[in-house]
Amino acid sequence: MLKRSSQWRAIVFIATVVTSPVAGQEGSTDYAKGALIAERACSLCHDVTIDESDPPENKVPSFVKIANEPHQSADRLAENILFPHRDMPQFSLDAPSDLRDVTGYIMSMRGKK
Ligand code: HEC
Repeated sequence: MLKRSSQWRAIVFIATVVTSPVAGQEGSTDYAKGALIAERACSLCHDVTIDESDPPENKVPSFVKIANEPHQSADRLAENILFPHRDMPQFSLDAPSDLRDVTGYIMSMRGKK
């Protein structure tokens, strides 16, 4: 069961995603901040930079791999981050813009590898 504060956070994020689609905010995405968040909150499990390759035994997909999945989009990413898969913990991103920045950072690797 989520703590009340996490539920509230999730609601705030969902409201943000619904009222301002991530993909529609390209101008304001802070990629450097996204990279920082990825390093801080995601690199424990994921390979988060474009130079990191996935060792075959690694069960967690790298961000390059995630970015280049067919039909990948910023909105789909945001959903996966907000409603994590089984092994993925719920994150507390500090501000709604964190979600936009980290999805923007991941999507910036699309088509680059
Ligand atoms: C504790 C380990 C862990 C951390 C930390 C973590 N993840 Fe994950 N993540 C996973 C695992 C494991 C999967 C694969 C889940 C599955 O396939 O069921 C995954 C899957 C994903 C997916 C879906 C990939 C797809 O195929 O569409 C996205 C997007 C994602 N993670 C983003 C993030 C972001 C962004 C962060 C940091 C804010 C993060 N993850 C932090 C373990 C983690």
